Amino acid sequence: MKYACLNPISEFGLQALPAGFEKTEDLNEADAILVRSAVMHEMEFAPALKCVARAGAGVNNIPLDVLRDKGVVVFNTPGANANAVKELTVLALFLTARDVPGGMAWVRENKEDENLAKSMEKAKKKFAGHEVYGKTLGVIGLGAIGFMVAETAVALGMKVVGYDPFLPDALRVKLPAAVTVVDDQKEVFRAADYITVHVPENDATRGTFRKEAFAEMKDGVVLLNLARAGLVNEDDLEEALKSGKVARYITDVPDKRVANMPNVIGFPHLGASTEEAEDNCAKMAAEELGDFLLNGNIRNSVNFPAVTLGAKEGARTLVLFKEGAETEKMKVLVPGFQKAEIKVKKGAGAALFEGGEAAEGLKALDGVVRVLTF
Ligand code: MLT
Repeated sequence: MKYACLNPISEFGLQALPAGFEKTEDLNEADAILVRSAVMHEMEFAPALKCVARAGAGVNNIPLDVLRDKGVVVFNTPGANANAVKELTVLALFLTARDVPGGMAWVRENKEDENLAKSMEKAKKKFAGHEVYGKTLGVIGLGAIGFMVAETAVALGMKVVGYDPFLPDALRVKLPAAVTVVDDQKEVFRAADYITVHVPENDATRGTFRKEAFAEMKDGVVLLNLARAGLVNEDDLEEALKSGKVARYITDVPDKRVANMPNVIGFPHLGASTEEAEDNCAKMAAEELGDFLLNGNIRNSVNFPAVTLGAKEGARTLVLFKEGAETEKMKVLVPGFQKAEIKVKKGAGAALFEGGEAAEGLKALDGVVRVLTF
């Protein structure tokens, strides 16, 4: 099997690929692509390509639907960098509460002052701030990152109000009792002194922070966005910053316009840029690719449902299909299909079964996108 890397991927992680997997620079022969932030929307994809793994959680740099329609399975690594992003979020929270960057800049500017220690005593009142203890943190998105941020905020003595329409019950019960989960994000906007957002950018979440949302918020709210730029409407943010509705906006996804707005603290997208997160993400991505290319198992895919049958012993077949495909005919055509693991998610289906017969017949059925034998 051959894989290509569109970005540097941690060597530690690549060691998790099965023996015999070879790196290639030629995308035409790659069975798999590993990617971090490279934008793939304009790329052409060769027929050899079977899967793409993003070493990270967000997948807005990948054309998921185009790849789904070609029968290319896309994986991400949910949770693998969550602790790194959580730690940066906590740092961001404190950076908005205390003007440490301002104080640091002052020390740098005055570092030749013989009386620095004395002058500092006078200067320091400019950098005074407040404590986060007792304040309310609103968390939009209680997935792997938001969940950990909520837990940490509780440990810091903050009140936490969270919103996540996709929060599974199994996770909800694990949240500290002090976290109030609400069904309407307006309740978060209304209650919070600080709001942090940890959701992917997609059609449902783009522009979450717009005029109507700002109107619900407390005057002087602080907004943290270490997720994606598109979650915030820039025109409305500018207005909210100028009017003081938003006292501070801290983000690791600023563009030129946002970086020039008043009361913005911006820095590069560093959330997952720790050695540990890079290793964790690369390892998880390599394991997902390896298990898929060897066994046909799909775990953590963002464009096909999960199907897993463990390690294979004989031949195995995976059918990728559109929802509504002729699965009943598949059962007639292939005896092994009777015992297939079949799942459908968001219009895309996957069926994995033992045996390697009748691949050609399956390909001819309506709605079948791709048949792979392992
Ligand atoms: C993620 O999507 O995993 C984080 O935003 C970090 C990254 O983009 O690498």
